[in-house]
Amino acid sequence: MAKNLILYYSRKGQNYVNGSIKTLTKGNTEICAEFIQKAVGGDLFEIETIKEYAADYYACIDDAKSELQEKARPELKKYLESIADYNNIFVCGPCWWGTFPMAVFTQLEKLDWSGKKVMALMTHEGSGLASCEQDLKRICAGASFGKGLAVHGAEASRSEKEVASWASAQV
Ligand SMILES: Cc1cc2nc3c(=O)[nH]c(=O)nc-3n(C[C@H](O)[C@H](O)[C@H](O)COP(=O)(O)O)c2cc1C
Repeated sequence: MAKNLILYYSRKGQNYVNGSIKTLTKGNTEICAEFIQKAVGGDLFEIETIKEYAADYYACIDDAKSELQEKARPELKKYLESIADYNNIFVCGPCWWGTFPMAVFTQLEKLDWSGKKVMALMTHEGSGLASCEQDLKRICAGASFGKGLAVHGAEASRSEKEVASWASAQV
């Protein structure tokens, strides 16, 4: 039976929600990653950086911009060493300046993607999938790609039906 893996990065703390700053106790992407697991089963793996990003939204966006410009690869608290046991891999994260946070790429670059099916889920405040699918295609060499899904972050907790039907159609 095909095995699914849901890799995700998600940040709690202040975020930009429908034009104002709100404090999230659970990140938007984490909510969506759990909906995927509920719909299709599989293992969840959270990508967490050693360095904590500022809870303050404006400090965090400055940091994230520098990391993007420098093509930084922040160190992670733990690494997934292999995806050999999985067939379908959902890569989930927020849109940070038009792509996934650099920490997602820290993890992706350590894995062998040949023969895997990869799907992107991005939560965002207006940019949709931005360049995340092109970036995944560059990094996950040898993988095939399913359809990506963009979820408006502010709607994450109400997105279960949409996320479940999308995820079910990919596996
Ligand atoms: C550092 C940073 C950069 C962001 N850049 C964008 C962006 O370029 N486009 C966009 O639509 N939303 C952007 N956002 C909003 C987030 O993508 C959105 O709130 C997302 O749902 C947060 O997910 P999370 O709670 O799982 O971290 C940014 C948020 C942060 C903190």
